Amino acid sequence: MNGTEAAEPDLRSHLALALDVDDAVEAGRLARELRPWFGVAKVGLELFSAAGPSVVALLIDEGYKVFLDLKMADIPNTVGKAARVLGSLGTSYLTFHAFAGPAVLRAGVDGLREGAERAGLETPAALAVTVLTSDSDAPPHILAKRVAIAIEARCAGVVCAASDVVEAKQIGPRLITVVPGLRPPGIPSHDQARSATPAAALSAGADLLVIGRAVTSAEDRQAAAEAILASLQPHFSSEGGASTAPAR
Ligand code: C5P
Repeated sequence: MNGTEAAEPDLRSHLALALDVDDAVEAGRLARELRPWFGVAKVGLELFSAAGPSVVALLIDEGYKVFLDLKMADIPNTVGKAARVLGSLGTSYLTFHAFAGPAVLRAGVDGLREGAERAGLETPAALAVTVLTSDSDAPPHILAKRVAIAIEARCAGVVCAASDVVEAKQIGPRLITVVPGLRPPGIPSHDQARSATPAAALSAGADLLVIGRAVTSAEDRQAAAEAILASLQPHFSSEGGASTAPAR
């Protein structure tokens, strides 16, 4: 593949670009530049705080599915109402903290559905964050407990480290697994304590790979994106590839 060639659409739909910047203009620029390699744009707390809900429409206009990574954790009523607003924006994914418990996650799942229905949109996938990939002290039993919470609340998927994908899929075979903390060989892990290569995550069965600084901080972003794509091609089967469509 060369710099002008787009990645296979199928593989691209499994790749989320983490737009961890603090203004919409910069996010739009990155999104346009890297669209040939990514099908999903992830908006975290930094960008959402800076740019607000309009950034969702901006990224949809650029041809992306939008992943709102707001890691919600409040009382059920508050989370449900916020999720209802976010579900009406056209986002495809929204994260909640699993530690908040099943009642909070269920309120989020219901809120997303209601908001999307009200706007005539497809229901976004609710994702439960199991353990932060920056957390090196998480006790070993916590993953299973948090995946069980996600299932009980009828979340579509979980966010977990690459090393947790197999166990998460054993507990919830229908869950989408979303994996951040990815670094190609030789790239610094920054604050990620449990990082893995994109190829290792895909081989483990991850459905959506979140790529941030490995591409956005690279001197040549397009070359970095292309190298990641090339490393994934041998591990990707469009038939065997797990679905990233919101499951319910
Ligand atoms: O730059 P980097 O690839 O480390 O970015 C990872 C992204 O994934 C960040 O936006 C971060 O907030 C997010 N994330 C994470 N660990 C989780 C959940 C989300 O790093 N468990």
